[in-house]
Amino acid sequence: MPAPDASSPVLGTPGTAGAVRLVLLGSGELGREVAIEAMRLGCEVVAVDRYDGAPAQQVAHRSHTIAMTDPDALRALLRSERERPCARMLVVPEIEAIATPVLEELEAEGLHVVPTARAARLTMDREGIRRLAAEELGIPTSPYRFCTTAGELRDAVAALQPASGAFVPCVVKPVMSSSGKGQSVVRRPEDADASWTYAQESGRTGASAVICEGFVDFDYEITLLTVRHAGGTTFCAPIGHTQEDGDYRESWQPQPMSDAAAARAEEIARTITDGLGGFGLFGVELFVAGDEVLFSEVSPRPHDTGMVTMASQAASEFALHVRAILGLPVPTDAAGRVPLLGPAASAVVLGDADRDAPTFAGVAAAYAVDPAVDVRLFGKPDARPGRRLGVALARGADVDEARARATTAAAAVTIGG
Ligand SMILES: Nc1ncnc2c1ncn2[C@@H]1O[C@H](COP(=O)(O)OP(=O)(O)O)[C@@H](O)[C@H]1O
Ligand SMILES: [Mg+2]
Repeated sequence: MPAPDASSPVLGTPGTAGAVRLVLLGSGELGREVAIEAMRLGCEVVAVDRYDGAPAQQVAHRSHTIAMTDPDALRALLRSERERPCARMLVVPEIEAIATPVLEELEAEGLHVVPTARAARLTMDREGIRRLAAEELGIPTSPYRFCTTAGELRDAVAALQPASGAFVPCVVKPVMSSSGKGQSVVRRPEDADASWTYAQESGRTGASAVICEGFVDFDYEITLLTVRHAGGTTFCAPIGHTQEDGDYRESWQPQPMSDAAAARAEEIARTITDGLGGFGLFGVELFVAGDEVLFSEVSPRPHDTGMVTMASQAASEFALHVRAILGLPVPTDAAGRVPLLGPAASAVVLGDADRDAPTFAGVAAAYAVDPAVDVRLFGKPDARPGRRLGVALARGADVDEARARATTAAAAVTIGG
C-alpha cells in the first residue's frame, strides 16, 4: 500500500461536518452535469438559480432561488451556506450574470471561488476579458472598439475599415451578454444605428456598452478545453462547432487542424488561462484561418460546445472540471492530452414555441438512428423558441459520421405540450 499523500484532497459525506460542498451559481444543463459528477465523488451539491426547478436544482441535495445579480441576495446566501458545517466549500459559477464584486469581497475573507473571483469578474463582461487578452497579454484577436453611444458605434465601424477595398462587416455585441443575445452584424455603414438599438434592447442588463469587432473570415472556429489542475495544464482535443444567431448548433471532436495551428491554439489557451489563474476547466474559443489563430473569448467553466465530451471522452468536461477544482488528477494520454474515446458529435434540440412543461416525442427514433447515439433532455420547466432543451450525442468512425448521426437524432426529437 502506498503511503497516503498529505497533499491529496480528502473527500467527505454530504450533509455532515466532513462534507465537501459545491455551491453552483447557475443551475442549467451544464451545471446539472457538474452536479452529477460532483455527487459521484460524494460531494454535497447546492444548486442556485433565478427560477425554481432549474436543471441542476432537480438533482442537487439542496437548492436556492435568488437573483444572483443582486449583491445583497448573493452575499446573504453565500454567508448562510458558509455558516453550515462542512470541511470545504467551493463556489462554482456556471453563468456570467453574477454580482462578481461580491465574489471578490468574500474571496478576500477566504471563500474559495472557482477558478478565481477575478476570473469570474473579467469574463462576465466582454471588455474585461478582451482587454486582458489583447492589451495585457498580447494575444492576437479581431480588431475591436468599445462604444457607449450610437455615434461612437458609427465611428468605430468607420475606424475598423481598411484604408482601401471592400467594406469589412463588423460584429456588434453588448458587453454584458451571452449566447448571441443582442448580437448583430453591420454589413453596410448605415446598419450601425440598427445594431446599436438591437444591442440596447437585447443585452443582459438592458442598456449597455457594446464591443464592435471586425468580422473575421475564419476557416473554422474551435473550443479548446483547457484544464488547470494541481499537476499543471492539460488540453483536450480541439472541438469544432457551428453557430447560428450567435448560439451553438453542432459540435464535434476532434476538429482536424494543421500542426502549426494546433500548437498556436494551445499556446494561446495556456497564456489566457494562466492569465486568469485558479484550478478548473476553461473553454477557450478561437478562430482559425490557415495556420493563424485568433482568440475570441473564454469561459472559466465547462462550455456548451463541450457537451460532445460526454460521448468522446471517458472523463467529460464536467468530470474534468470537478476533478480539477477538488485538487484531483486529470487523465492524460502518451502525448499529455486528455484521452479521446473516438470521434463524436453533439447536436442541439431547440424549443420551437412557448410551451409550459414541454413533452418530447421521437426519442425512440433518435436512439434508432444508431446504437452509438445518446440523448440528454434537460428538464427545463418551459420551452421558448430557440431555447436549448436537449442535446443528441453520437460517436462515429469519423467526425462526419458522428455529425450525421447526431443531427439526424436531434431532428427526430419533436417537442409538444
Ligand atoms: N469578430 C467576429 N468575426 C466573425 N464571427 C464572429 C465574431 N465574433 C463572433 N462571431 C461569431 O459569433 C459567435 C458568438 O460570438 P461570441 O463572441 O462567442 O459570443 P457569445 O458570448 O454569445 O458566445 C462566435 O462563436 C462566432 O461564430
Ligand atoms: Mg462564445
